[in-house]
Amino acid sequence: MIDASTQRAEEVFYAALAEKTAAERRVFLDGACAGDPALRAMVEEMLDSQSEADRFFLDSLPALKPSAEICQSVAGADELAKNPDGEISADEDLGKRIGPYKLLQKIGEGGCGVVYMAEQEAPVRRRVALKVIKLGMDTKSVIARFEAERQALAMMDHPNIARVLDAGATEAGRPYFVLEPALQATHADGNVSTDLIYVRHEIRVVDTNISLTRIELKDPVYPFFVTLCLKAYANEDVIEQWTEIRNQENGAVTLEHFASSAPLLHAKEYWLTQFRGDYRREATLSEEKLTPGTKILDSKIGTRASRYRIASFILSLNEPAKEDSGEVFGGSLEWPGSYQMAFDVDWNNHLRALCGINPFGEEYHLKPGETFTTPAMLWTWSNEGKGQVSRNFHRWARSYGIRDGNTSRPVLLNNWEATEFNFDEKIIVSLFDGAKELGADLFLLDDGWFGNRHARTNDAAGLGDWQVNTNRLSHGLSYLAAQANQRGIRFGIWLEPEMVDPASDLYELHPEWAIGQPHRAPDLFRNQLGLDLSRPAVRDFVWRSIDDTLKPNPGITYLKWDANRYVTQPGSTYLPAGEQSHLLIDYNFALLSIMSRLAKDFPQVTAMLCSGGGGRVDYGALKYFHTFWPSDNTDPRDRVFIQWGFSHFFPAITMSDHVTKMGNRPLKFALDVAMSGTLGMDLDVSKLSSGERATVAAGIALYKNELRDVTLRGDLYRLESPYDHPRAALDFVSPDSSRAVLFVYQLQDAANKAVKPRGLNPQMRYRVHEVNLPAGEKSKLADDGKTIDGATLMRDGLVPPCQKEFESSVIELAGEK
Ligand code: DGJ
Repeated sequence: MIDASTQRAEEVFYAALAEKTAAERRVFLDGACAGDPALRAMVEEMLDSQSEADRFFLDSLPALKPSAEICQSVAGADELAKNPDGEISADEDLGKRIGPYKLLQKIGEGGCGVVYMAEQEAPVRRRVALKVIKLGMDTKSVIARFEAERQALAMMDHPNIARVLDAGATEAGRPYFVLEPALQATHADGNVSTDLIYVRHEIRVVDTNISLTRIELKDPVYPFFVTLCLKAYANEDVIEQWTEIRNQENGAVTLEHFASSAPLLHAKEYWLTQFRGDYRREATLSEEKLTPGTKILDSKIGTRASRYRIASFILSLNEPAKEDSGEVFGGSLEWPGSYQMAFDVDWNNHLRALCGINPFGEEYHLKPGETFTTPAMLWTWSNEGKGQVSRNFHRWARSYGIRDGNTSRPVLLNNWEATEFNFDEKIIVSLFDGAKELGADLFLLDDGWFGNRHARTNDAAGLGDWQVNTNRLSHGLSYLAAQANQRGIRFGIWLEPEMVDPASDLYELHPEWAIGQPHRAPDLFRNQLGLDLSRPAVRDFVWRSIDDTLKPNPGITYLKWDANRYVTQPGSTYLPAGEQSHLLIDYNFALLSIMSRLAKDFPQVTAMLCSGGGGRVDYGALKYFHTFWPSDNTDPRDRVFIQWGFSHFFPAITMSDHVTKMGNRPLKFALDVAMSGTLGMDLDVSKLSSGERATVAAGIALYKNELRDVTLRGDLYRLESPYDHPRAALDFVSPDSSRAVLFVYQLQDAANKAVKPRGLNPQMRYRVHEVNLPAGEKSKLADDGKTIDGATLMRDGLVPPCQKEFESSVIELAGEK
């Protein structure tokens, strides 16, 4: 055991390492060791013995992008694996290549490895500190040397290190090595411990932007394998990380914890922003400073699990997150099921962020030969604030995270707000004319078109019976699509394929297909139950419901996939008693595979992800969709906040924002708010005055002809937050900076003052033009019509003509070539 004074010295030593500069460290030591020269001497000795190499390595970390940090760690291990003849430790190795790196200079040696200055040539040229780690050493000696290496190793997102830390706890009895495990398994013979040792790794360059690193680890005594997978997107500064767990033992292994990712960070302070809410108030920002202990953000509701909180967060180092400065991480889990993000601040003030499927009630038995692949965790980092973090996510999403992210989106008219369940064929066809008149591209027929014995004329019956209601729509869906097409608009439809109403033919035939628990009365939510997707026959049924709706009706080119309840009684009549805890995991993997089949088999069908408002918003499901429905709350005042929240992770091209009458706000305000995303409408056109119709039609034309190219594909800059200003302001800038659109929404009466756009080309001259003005009105913007250079615009701003609550302004900035 170590004595108390050494323990105290170590405590101060690690805290001192957190100080960025030597001067700051001195000031810190003056305080921490005041009146205790012996303590100071011990700490200083420890600091001195910290090798040059480690110091260089640590110092270089903040300057490196996360992708580089992780790749360089990996490349070191690779070198050992690939060079059986010896380690890279001698000077003659300089000039040698290790994967994408060329060794330039040996910096020094630490307890467990050697640090080099290296140059990476592809996909992007940059210099990195490359640490060759001798993970081939036996565990005991690694542990023995581990303390000196701890800081450096801690920066690596590497469960092997976590295991070493845990082992350290047992061997040395040091409580500060005890961490929440990223992975916990009970082996076939009942052994509850796992030791993972590095075996090998490979870095595959997928293309000029993407590299995939796979690090293989193995338990030295069990045929139990873990592969850490990191997909790095260089241009977007995004890493996707997941873990593959393979059991080759002669019996099942029980997985109790299976995080996708568990990085360790070190900073003075950690500020966590979560995006919580409930029905109609989704994605509400809430930021707090993390204190010692574990803060858990989670969801336990099994499916469409982001109802109360989305599986995405912002983590700011050292200070509350700012838009355009400061070190900020963004994290987002690609999983529509229950999730857990556990933020564990230890007594050294290190933060460990364990992110993945929620292990609560989801213990998984992995049979021999099976591999469990966790969902991927998305990470990005910026030292230019959370604005850049969002732009990284957005760019990544458009290129890799959603369907057709670099195209456009149709403007649609949905009938839900206008008719709810009260319609028939005549009414629907009459709405097509209104859609055409307004300039919509597509009409979306919402809930209520199906069910016969149990007609879906309200929300109490019909779910599961996906046959068109012949009473209401006697000519069927293809007829409706043809009618829409004749008017030059596309036709789309609503489905809620995972659900069943007890009042349905399906439930009468197969009550055992519903999720539920023995001896408990079914817990209905919106009168419905969820279907048990762990059962193959149900998976097949759900797929057929979709296929049988779309295939015979090729005129349907849009699908809104809804899900109006979550799981409150996880139980399956299909799974054996010992595997009940598999239900939610099997459910969500099955769900994603059906969604992926939808995208593959129906590439011409645009798809919206909806879930009783924004209950399912995650990049696991979004991969197969074009947009999501952020909220059933379409009051534009509230939407400013909701869209603001989601914009931290999801680009405008993914957000279906509709103009409705909700809240009775001025129509211009509603249009201006919806136009900053993917514009749509939920209006009964026949109830609009001719003036209102003209306003909406002009807005849609403007959006289609001038704005959406920039808003849907441009970079977003959040300028003034509605959380701390009487107004909200944001701008979008086209990729070549030649066009920008600035939106200002007044939420409380206040004197107008300049709003400063960002992201413009300082040298370029932009013509300022306020748009979407009421017919015949001239802009009151003093600079309207002027041409001003980007630098001046960003420095002095523009004074939008908004002072009163619900006034708004849309200003185009058109660069002169
Ligand atoms: C909930 C959705 O969020 C609404 O837009 C609408 O589609 C209803 N369900 C229909 O039941």
